[in-house]
Amino acid sequence: MWQPPERIKHALPVTNWPSAKEASASRLFSPVRLGPKTLTSRTWIPAMVPWRATSEGLVTDDVVDWYARFAKGRPGAIVVEATGIRDVPSGPLMRAGHERFVPGLRRLVEAVKNASNGETTLFIQLIDFLQIRRRPPADKYFSRFLRIRPEHREALAKAEERPSFHTCDESIIRDHLTTLEPEKLASILDARELDALQKGYRERVWDTHLEHIRELPQTLPGLFADATSRVLEAGFDGVELHYAHAYTMASFLSALNNRDDGYGGSRENRVRLPLEVIKAVRDVVPSDRVLGLRFLGDEVIEGGSRLDDALYYAKRFAESGVDFLSVSKGGKFEDAKIPKVGDAVYPYTGPSGYECMPSVYSDARGPFGRNVGLADAVKRTINEAGYEIPVVTAGGIGTFAMAEAILDRGEADIIGSARQCIADPDWFLKVRLGQGESVRRCEYTNYCEGLDQKHKQVTCKLWDRKQLDEEGVTLDHSGRRRLTAPAWTP
Ligand SMILES: Cc1cc2nc3c(=O)[nH]c(=O)nc-3n(C[C@H](O)[C@H](O)[C@H](O)COP(=O)(O)O)c2cc1C
Ligand code: SF4
Repeated sequence: MWQPPERIKHALPVTNWPSAKEASASRLFSPVRLGPKTLTSRTWIPAMVPWRATSEGLVTDDVVDWYARFAKGRPGAIVVEATGIRDVPSGPLMRAGHERFVPGLRRLVEAVKNASNGETTLFIQLIDFLQIRRRPPADKYFSRFLRIRPEHREALAKAEERPSFHTCDESIIRDHLTTLEPEKLASILDARELDALQKGYRERVWDTHLEHIRELPQTLPGLFADATSRVLEAGFDGVELHYAHAYTMASFLSALNNRDDGYGGSRENRVRLPLEVIKAVRDVVPSDRVLGLRFLGDEVIEGGSRLDDALYYAKRFAESGVDFLSVSKGGKFEDAKIPKVGDAVYPYTGPSGYECMPSVYSDARGPFGRNVGLADAVKRTINEAGYEIPVVTAGGIGTFAMAEAILDRGEADIIGSARQCIADPDWFLKVRLGQGESVRRCEYTNYCEGLDQKHKQVTCKLWDRKQLDEEGVTLDHSGRRRLTAPAWTP
């Protein structure tokens, strides 16, 4: 993963934990209304993909155990990992694109409700994404994928001072391109071709020459609405639309989106499909369930959407009637690290990925509560516009003191804590019971994220080799790591 060049190692904040009495009087452990539901506390586990579904996208026992383990810590809400809305092969990513996924999802809901004694409200994040291919070997790219254009002949003839490239057989051009240095290739291929060579082919929402992409505004509202109906049928309390990071909906919102069909270009056009999806989903969400979304306060990429775009979107989302806004940051393909040949590009490996999941190797600002400013700006903007919709923040928040201070200052309404909950799924409960000293604190060094990147079952370095002989322990595919945190009894 990319790290800021300063590479300052930040120590975990020294903190005082509250007594049970102080915790029960705190804002963090006070209820908050989310549309028709009331969360028992302002504690929230944001969506995290732990790679435990089957290769068909079905819920497994390991998926159920993972969420039941979180639920034992009694968070106010859990958002289940990004779950695909289509019925297409997506590797071990959970899916909700067909009725056959409903029984597994129902089992997951029941397990969370039982484990939290009904205290935890359960949402699921719904995602759409476009096609992405692994990085090909250069010879394969030039022999099979690159479409030779007159511009290539022109540039090659000029760069190599060989006029015969204007008329020679295509195979000679392809063979020759394979021999060229990257600097020379950069003067012959266009930016998209170079990107496909270095990172693998990837569709963009502005590839309107492709019929299925041109028609996204017609297909996506129905796909999101149908997936929503299925997960609500399974018993989820609501849905979180995934409008953040590197995926389809965030790409519509991106300032890079230059579609010329009314769904790109200006902010008004870029937010059009996201609003149409909200409307279609709203129509299938009954009045006792929640509809919220996660979006980016800042894409943190060159030419991308910044905070001013996000504030405009926040107002439009608020007026569209969503019940919560969860604010994230970065996590884009555009600045991701070049993958090894045979691997796929991963959106959390560049500077924008760093902003999404900041580690302790940081700049002077450090990783702790790094993204709160974005949530604060979103909250102030929608509040000034007359909307009281709760705003969720996340990013390096792993102590009671920090969470409480954010709420005290009114910078957000709900505290999302992702990696700290992997490190210690009981931490909210421990704090609530006045046992904060026993919290196993996340070190924010991103071992878990490294596993995620390789699509390996996500675990935490603080517990995955501990107490392997505990009753009921299940191990990962390598047989060396436990899949859930050791048990804790209050
Ligand atoms: C293993 C892992 C998987 C993640 N998967 C998702 C996801 O499916 N959807 C999403 O919106 N964010 C995802 N995230 C980002 C987290 O929800 C969160 O925003 C980020 O980790 C920052 O919060 P933290 O500092 O409390 O960990 C993931 C993070 C991790 C570590
Ligand atoms: S592996 Fe554990 S300690 Fe390290 S960042 Fe992930 S959750 Fe935190």
